[in-house]
Amino acid sequence: MKNPQGVDTGRRGLIGAMIPAERKSVVKTIARVHVTYHQAACTGGVMRTLKNILVTGGAGFIGSNFIRYLFERVGFPGAIVNVDKLTYAGNPESLDDIRQSYGGQYHFEHADIGDFERMRDILARYDIDTVVNFAAESHVDRSIFGPKDFVQSNIVGTFTLLEAVRAHWGKRRDTLFHHVSTDEVYGSLGETGAFYETTPYDPRSPYSASKAASDHLVMAYHHTYELAVTISNCSNNYGPYQFPEKLIPLMIMNLREGKPLPVYGDGRQVRDWLHVDDHNSAVWLIMNRGANGETYNIGGENERENIWIVHTLCEAMARITGNSVDSYKRLITHVADRPGHDRRYAINCDKIKGALGWTRAVAFDAGLESTIRWYLANDAWVNRVRSGEYRNWIERNYGKR
Ligand code: NAD
Ligand code: DAU
Repeated sequence: MKNPQGVDTGRRGLIGAMIPAERKSVVKTIARVHVTYHQAACTGGVMRTLKNILVTGGAGFIGSNFIRYLFERVGFPGAIVNVDKLTYAGNPESLDDIRQSYGGQYHFEHADIGDFERMRDILARYDIDTVVNFAAESHVDRSIFGPKDFVQSNIVGTFTLLEAVRAHWGKRRDTLFHHVSTDEVYGSLGETGAFYETTPYDPRSPYSASKAASDHLVMAYHHTYELAVTISNCSNNYGPYQFPEKLIPLMIMNLREGKPLPVYGDGRQVRDWLHVDDHNSAVWLIMNRGANGETYNIGGENERENIWIVHTLCEAMARITGNSVDSYKRLITHVADRPGHDRRYAINCDKIKGALGWTRAVAFDAGLESTIRWYLANDAWVNRVRSGEYRNWIERNYGKR
């Protein structure tokens, strides 16, 4: 990517590469447009002023994109503190350019959300008034091999963080705890229908059960202790910086390396795909305008069978590299299914669209192609996250399938 002076800005993007004065003015304009847009679009009565934000899990896929979004797209003027335990899925290098460009506002704290004293200290030290909780163990297959970490981080971790904010904020009313959750808490759908905010919870994997438990804890703190909370339940995300254990980046890496493309079972399971930037614009909108104590579903309205995704990736790779589509499609290998595999997810997101005026900006074709190009152009990032631990995981999950 090049800035207006023709200088290659690399991963930092146009705004990150500008000189500070230039950046300030552009960011201010974007922030004004953003606020005007939301004021015009929103019909709800809430308008929060968020000052200093604690982002948990900000070294992971969605959290790092969220922090980038706040600085580069929103022009957020306050402090952003990224608390991350740096599990195998956390890579602070994803935000190296942000650290360099926004050093005065961006802070990183290597910590576990399950550490009460650390959380309480961080809340006090940075005068945090807003928490957005992305931190979690997030991969369903890993939860099948080892559920314990999921119970620890997703349930005990969220509980401990809630206790820390309760102790630190007390009865303050100018605060918000936003919890990022998943559509998987609603269970699995048949051929028709969709998940609504009112759909009863019916989680079926250790991952989704742990997320469901954390959602219940957040709502319990709202009702019992009057903590100001919002929750979002989102469908499958894709985009840059996603750990290559998840379907789309795993397939891109295997296509690139000529390795088998492991499709679980018949590949006819359906997921609803959304670009990570559209997820993050929704989260930001809810944080600013969402009603206290409410849940909002976020989705792509973009249902695809897994096998369709894999074929589409093969076709896109062929277009990008000039290799034949067949040379890619012959890598498709059906392997043993995931135990308890949810068949279909579909999100109804009328509530956030109607009440808050949310719209998506990224078309699926364009988003998928830019994601492929991002993985092909970012060898260094990919090589670093595919450490020894990653190789062990691939052997464990796919070795005997
Ligand atoms: P990810 O696995 O890429 O990142 C998770 C991050 O959390 C990592 O940086 C990890 O180090 C950190 N973390 C884990 N346990 C922690 C702990 N105890 N304390 C502090 N940090 C910890 O996950 P993701 O895909 O970015 O998902 C982020 C959130 O969004 C999760 O809560 C997930 O349930 C939810 N979500 C994800 C998707 C999706 O498609 N990826 C969709 C809907 C909701
Ligand atoms: O729906 C939201 C959820 O989406 C998030 O809450 C989770 O954190 C996130 O990991 C994701 O869960 P899925 O299980 O849907 O994502 P995953 O990328 O693991 O798999 C997508 C689909 O592709 C699923 O039906 C399983 C299938 N799959 C996955 C892998 C890794 C394969 O067929 N082969 C594979 O190798």
